[in-house]
Amino acid sequence: MPIQTQVTNILKIDHPVVQGAMQWISLPALVASVSEAGGLGVLAAATYPDKEALRTAIRETKSLTPKPFALNVSIFPSLNVPDYHGYFAAALDEGVRIIETSGRAPVEYIDFLKKNGAVVMHKCTTVKHALKAESIGCDLVVIDGFEGGGHPGESDIGSIVLAARAAESLDIPFIACGGFSNGRGLAAALMLGAGAITMGTRFLATKECPILPQIKKFVAGPDCTEHDTMLVMRKYRNTARVYANATAKEALRRENAGKPFGDVASLVSGQRGRKMVFESGDLADGLLSMGLSAGLVHDIIPVRELIERTVREAITVMKKYA
Ligand SMILES: Cc1cc2nc3c(=O)[nH]c(=O)nc-3n(C[C@H](O)[C@H](O)[C@H](O)COP(=O)(O)O)c2cc1C
Repeated sequence: MPIQTQVTNILKIDHPVVQGAMQWISLPALVASVSEAGGLGVLAAATYPDKEALRTAIRETKSLTPKPFALNVSIFPSLNVPDYHGYFAAALDEGVRIIETSGRAPVEYIDFLKKNGAVVMHKCTTVKHALKAESIGCDLVVIDGFEGGGHPGESDIGSIVLAARAAESLDIPFIACGGFSNGRGLAAALMLGAGAITMGTRFLATKECPILPQIKKFVAGPDCTEHDTMLVMRKYRNTARVYANATAKEALRRENAGKPFGDVASLVSGQRGRKMVFESGDLADGLLSMGLSAGLVHDIIPVRELIERTVREAITVMKKYA
């Protein structure tokens, strides 16, 4: 029996499970497998150097699934501003109709996106920002709690309170994100008022995830728990929750010593993290975004099994109290 919500209706998906955008990692094969299984796969624009490279990835994804998938565009302040408009235009041109923004609200892009028929969901980490997204015309909010892997914001509000606050404050539907890994999490999110969950860390340990097998094995294994993440880059107001390895600890040491960002940049560089998960497999060298939900990941399974099991477990858990 499927779980249908306002969110699944708006996104036209079978199951209330969204795969979190992951730079370098949520490549077409993973994204398509999530959408094929009835969830929502999300490509990350940040993986691609320009709109044409993104267009190629979108075409590849479309060749693997006729089902809807989304594009995430993270809008961050930067000296070399990426061609955000180009990314949006390429996606819409290729028929991608679900756009997720993060970083900051897509104020100057929303008219263009809505005029071209996009469903716009904005990922943010406070209710204040969610209300802003609602006020400019976003259709959905993804509300990302302190537990989450990647950038959980600067306010440190955990997902339970954040989702409940979103439920009492927003008129538009929302997706709970950060700390969700299984059916109990999905059931909890639904009870808090969410219409779906976004999972990032959990998808690292799936058969279709393109990272090295030893990294997946580590994520699913006993040495990777809810105690094994840490926050870095707080002092630069770009907090990231990552696996607590030697690189992360050294980055934090320099940060706490008052060093400028330039002194940690080589440690936290995306290219270094990319090398770890795709080439060297050296879990000490580079940053790997990882949420507290790592403690709930115990196996490497196909995406379809993960999504179906998550929904099945949620229904079983909810029936206990029906
Ligand atoms: C390895 C990894 C890479 C990520 N990369 C991005 C990214 O490029 N853009 C983004 O908006 N979020 C990114 N995130 C955050 C996820 O999309 C999602 O919000 C988060 O993982 C949810 O929390 P969870 O890890 O507890 O499931 C990343 C997360 C992980 C684990």
